Amino acid sequence: MKKLISILLVALMVFAVAGCGNNNGGGEQPKDDVKTYEVGVAIYKFDDNFMTLYRNEIVNYFKTLETDTVKYNVEVVDSKNDMAEQSNQIDTFITQGKDVIILNLVQTSSADAIIDKVVAAEIPLVLINREPLGPNGDESYEGITKNPTVCYVGADARQSGTYQGEIVAELDNHGDINGDGKISYIMIIGDPENPDAQYRTEYSIKALTDAGYEVEELLAQVGNWDQAKGNEICAAALSQFGEQIEVVFCNNDAMALGAAAAITAAGRKVGEDIYLLGVDALDECQQMVKNGEMTGTVLNDHVGQSHTAVDVAVKALNGEAMNNYYWVDYVKVK
Ligand code: GAL
Repeated sequence: MKKLISILLVALMVFAVAGCGNNNGGGEQPKDDVKTYEVGVAIYKFDDNFMTLYRNEIVNYFKTLETDTVKYNVEVVDSKNDMAEQSNQIDTFITQGKDVIILNLVQTSSADAIIDKVVAAEIPLVLINREPLGPNGDESYEGITKNPTVCYVGADARQSGTYQGEIVAELDNHGDINGDGKISYIMIIGDPENPDAQYRTEYSIKALTDAGYEVEELLAQVGNWDQAKGNEICAAALSQFGEQIEVVFCNNDAMALGAAAAITAAGRKVGEDIYLLGVDALDECQQMVKNGEMTGTVLNDHVGQSHTAVDVAVKALNGEAMNNYYWVDYVKVK
């Protein structure tokens, strides 16, 4: 009897241990099936209103695409407007073996050097926001067209400039407040190395001249996308040119916010004795357009752009082919 009991006990223990083992195996099974992709994102600088919205949306959108079995570990770094620093950050991404890189270049002139090393490391690369242009100033950049794992996601800045000019052309007086037959303006420019700044500066005025209006440039000055600089430049221009200024074109809304404060401080009134234009359609500026404190802005669709960039990155992670260029439209806000 004693022998039978001990045999039964041993059998019970063996069964229990085997059962436990099975449970463990079952519990760990899903974990083995989870695939975590490592994503590196470098932003030219964090201290930029528009790129802050953009980078936050990249992170949020990756989260929404996660499933029980697919995760995205997204690391976003601040390149602090320093190309050498950004180049080091890309080296680190490569050493860490990131599965895909999303890059907002500090300087488009360094695009080749960065593309070469990321391609050599066989990591797909999605360039965003700062477009390296081809030799004819167009979308034929070899680093992009010749490399199937490199693409650019952006908005065509010519369109945003054109929309700014059209908003002025559509005003009853077409921006000619004093009726002297010409539109006298100042232009507050973003980063001059950046095609967004170049195109907005050129195409806003081209829209007016193409429509047959005469223009007079009183001043064009670089404000580097920065609110405080926009304020400084506009304040100095208002004291130098006074009522001669009919239109203040700003390449982005941050600088327009600065200009708006300068306009108020100078005792001028948007919509009555001066017009003010920006680009980006930051929430604050959309509100100002509604209130009449800004004449117009142009929506730079950070949601559309960030989602497209992430969708393309995910395509690349799944081994699918990507196009060279992806475009997201601007929208007029007036
Ligand atoms: C532009 C945007 C600016 C600034 C810049 C950075 O598209 O309008 O506000 O964020 O990108 O490259």
